[in-house]
Amino acid sequence: MTKNIFRTKSINEFISETKHDGGMNKVLGTFGLTMLGIGCIVGTGIFVLTGVAAANYSGPALIISFIIAAIACGCAALCYSEFAAMVPVAGSAYTYGYVALGEFWAWIIGWDLILEYAFAISAVAIGWSGYFNNILMNIGITLPKALTVAPYNGGWIDLPAVLIIVLVSLINIRGVQQSSLVNNVIVIIKLAVVALFIVLGVGHVDAANWVPFMPYGWSGVFSGASIIFFAYIGFDAVSTAAEEVKNPQKDLPRGIILSLIICTILYIAVSGILTGMVPYLQFKATAAPVAFALQSVGYHWGAAVISVGAICGLTSVLLVMAFGQSRILFVMSRDGLIPKFFGHIHPKYKTPVRSSSLICLITGITAGFLPINIVAELTNIGTLCAFIIVAAAVIVLRKKAPERPRAFKCPFVPVIPVLAIIFCAILIFMLPGVTQIRFVVWLLIGLAIYFGYGYQHSIISQAKRGTLSSSIESAAVSDTAAGEAEGMDTTHTH
Ligand code: ALA
Repeated sequence: MTKNIFRTKSINEFISETKHDGGMNKVLGTFGLTMLGIGCIVGTGIFVLTGVAAANYSGPALIISFIIAAIACGCAALCYSEFAAMVPVAGSAYTYGYVALGEFWAWIIGWDLILEYAFAISAVAIGWSGYFNNILMNIGITLPKALTVAPYNGGWIDLPAVLIIVLVSLINIRGVQQSSLVNNVIVIIKLAVVALFIVLGVGHVDAANWVPFMPYGWSGVFSGASIIFFAYIGFDAVSTAAEEVKNPQKDLPRGIILSLIICTILYIAVSGILTGMVPYLQFKATAAPVAFALQSVGYHWGAAVISVGAICGLTSVLLVMAFGQSRILFVMSRDGLIPKFFGHIHPKYKTPVRSSSLICLITGITAGFLPINIVAELTNIGTLCAFIIVAAAVIVLRKKAPERPRAFKCPFVPVIPVLAIIFCAILIFMLPGVTQIRFVVWLLIGLAIYFGYGYQHSIISQAKRGTLSSSIESAAVSDTAAGEAEGMDTTHTH
């Protein structure tokens, strides 16, 4: 059994499966990938969670929290890049885990990614609702608190968050694709409003607001980093587009690393200015801190423009996340680790309607009834755990397959992967204990599903039992599962 749960699929097997998939259009280059990355990265983290983290954890030292989270992500991104260039397959970290560590760890990563994407969708929808209400207020409409805030914060339900999730799910189900042109336009709007904030805000920085710099001490700064880590999530989504990239060996690492660098620079600038404009405690009272800061120094028009830009940007994050979620469930069902039910493709829309509907239901409930910090913390812990396993997988695969060509090599192995593991572990440790407990419960449910279902039904297990006779057949069957997916359109980016 121990041996079985570490059974792996070979890199070639994975790559050949993608060919059976009918092949996706290879249209993305470094530029498109970087735009895709920024499209997915810049969202609720910078537009909303900056306020939560500054008020409750980091204070004006928010900028240091951003740097700490950037170091964790930078090391993880280098590890991701090595894999992305070597195994350019859509399953992302889940696939890397399968190749290097075997089925069991692949399942754990996949299970973490389900948590990451589902809760990220909820958190971004709650952020969307904050800016939506801000715009309504600017034009003199105030929705009742009962309908705009989760019960935990004194309301009944966050209705705008639920409605945007339903809308995005419908778009996803109908298979309306976000073209790379639309993505590029949205990214430019997003970057423009961030730049506008920097330009308008920088002149209103009052150094007095930076004192005291660390009101909650170093532990607050690290706790803040564990929350705003959310702002960086998404660079990993670049690797889910692997099968649509012209020259994955070169473009993927560049896309991942460039989008992360650009976002890090923007975040450092925004967090420094934001905490310099407004005393940090005032952020307790707002769900739209970037707009709030501009309003508080008199730029009402600027706040309105930022709110509209944020709404556009957050919608694009939602679309990419909802797409990524359905793609991961699809790949896991192709491998037999979750029932084929989830991989079923609607004959007309060519999209996984069942899994998208289930995701809509779950994310709608969590977005409607839970506060943003709980949802974001669960996203973070799932992602951090996946990053740790990917970093470990780099070290393992260097030992197991040293001769395998690596178009991009993570520098200073094992130092960088070990640093990634240490930093991510620190961030997990700094998250609230109750989030850690919830995560352990999530993992236990995952283990029960794996040993109750995936272990027997996985493609590899069927091949071993002779249900399938060879790994070639295994790839073929996995394509039959995918065959239901015939024509499933995975080309969200072009
Ligand atoms: N990084 C993404 C955001 O902040 C998930 O919304």
